[in-house]
Amino acid sequence: MTRLKTLYVCNSCGGQTLKWQGQCPHCREWNTLTETVQEKNVLRFSPDSMQKQVLSLSEVETEDMPRFLTGMDELDRVLGGGLVQGGVVLLGGDPGIGKSTLLLQALSRMSVHHRVLYVSGEESMQQVALRARRLSLDVARVDLLTEIRLEAIQSILAEHRPRIAIIDSIQTIYSETLQSAPGSVAQVRECAARLTRFAKTSGTCIVLVGHVTKDGALAGPRVLEHMVDTVLYFEGDTHSTFRLIRAFKNRFGAVNELGVFAMTEKGLREVGNPSALFLSHHGVRVAGTCVMVTQEGTRPLLVEIQALVDEAHAPSPRRLCVGLEQNRLAMLLAVLHRHAGIPCFDQDIFINAVGGVKITEPGADLAVMLAIVSSLKNRVLPEKTVIFGEIGLAGEVRPVQRGQERIKEAAKLGFTCAVIPKANQSRQAVKGIEIIAVERVEEAVSALF
Ligand SMILES: Nc1ncnc2c1ncn2[C@@H]1O[C@H](COP(=O)(O)OP(=O)(O)OP(=O)(O)O)[C@@H](O)[C@H]1O
Ligand SMILES: [Mg+2]
Ligand SMILES: [Zn+2]
Repeated sequence: MTRLKTLYVCNSCGGQTLKWQGQCPHCREWNTLTETVQEKNVLRFSPDSMQKQVLSLSEVETEDMPRFLTGMDELDRVLGGGLVQGGVVLLGGDPGIGKSTLLLQALSRMSVHHRVLYVSGEESMQQVALRARRLSLDVARVDLLTEIRLEAIQSILAEHRPRIAIIDSIQTIYSETLQSAPGSVAQVRECAARLTRFAKTSGTCIVLVGHVTKDGALAGPRVLEHMVDTVLYFEGDTHSTFRLIRAFKNRFGAVNELGVFAMTEKGLREVGNPSALFLSHHGVRVAGTCVMVTQEGTRPLLVEIQALVDEAHAPSPRRLCVGLEQNRLAMLLAVLHRHAGIPCFDQDIFINAVGGVKITEPGADLAVMLAIVSSLKNRVLPEKTVIFGEIGLAGEVRPVQRGQERIKEAAKLGFTCAVIPKANQSRQAVKGIEIIAVERVEEAVSALF
């Protein structure tokens, strides 16, 4: 009788060890090793895949990959113009954020033109049907399968040959060839690999739903992200109705695109023009706030930046950023002191980007700095003014990408003045907006205060 061997597999990187350890020796994560039964050798490659020939790249016949629009513009935008034939998309997100809702809505629209299949491993037929009814979707042509055995799903896929198949979720699916439990690293990896292979050979688009752990990583091994063509994250604040979809990786399009939705009783509604979403609407103007134009993919967004500067009562003043980078703040304060002669070392400083957006681009620098100066001096910034620009250590204001588009968006929303980097100034004026082009931080400070 052979004894079953066990080994420990890391949930985060998929690495293996023979004995349990608190820390994974491969990726140095803590408490990620779980015991699994060593799998029997699985034949991963069928014999015919061994007889491939080498071709010169120019000999390979190519044609444009057909794309299928999902019918939801915001989703298509993030995908880079729709689903690609044979493409595999991983949609990750927190529990209850609306992954199933979004995909069911998209499927219902796609079912008009294509054969679609929804595989639910989490919910019963009744639950899915109830959701479709609540959202008043036309699902007459949406095929539904509740199944968690990979082999059964594969044979249905091979038989039905849908154009688009949704697997909700990859963590519930298991293969009978492996002994470990559904959701374990080995299972998730194997199931995703086999479904991906099916997509590539059959041309079916497969969307895998994936759960996200508390610290924001996709549950299951990192390898999942490498296997698929596109990784989308569905994010949002549980307190607000807004939901954002971001592409984390995309082999068929840009990765910085952002799709915006609002969760309503009738499901997710697309927000086609979100640029004014992140502005707060106070009646009186307050010191310490300013509006910046940030760029998410091809789309400019206006975001209000708030700063509160207050005398510190502890030896080490507090510095806090919400939605912006903390390290960047320390650098900006040093530049502000050194080049504009404004010290803040005895002040507590809090920075917030309104509406829960996360801004990672350095184009926010100038806006953050001027909001700080405004709060410190308790002077409001001029009305209807937008600000953007990156700040360098030498105190120079550096240009940002797509400056002209940002200015145009601000003008469209009724702003009348823009403080921008000199290098972003274009000879073509944008109607209705006055430009203050600055080269250095001290110039920007003296222009506004
Ligand atoms: N009766 C209802 N009326 C209004 N909104 C509802 C109703 N039922 C559910 N919702 C909304 O739908 C959301 C759940 O959506 P959905 O089931 O698509 O999420 P999910 O991301 O698939 O979650 P899970 O990870 O559990 O599969 C809820 O958080 C809630 O906002
Ligand atoms: Mg769901
Ligand atoms: Zn690891």
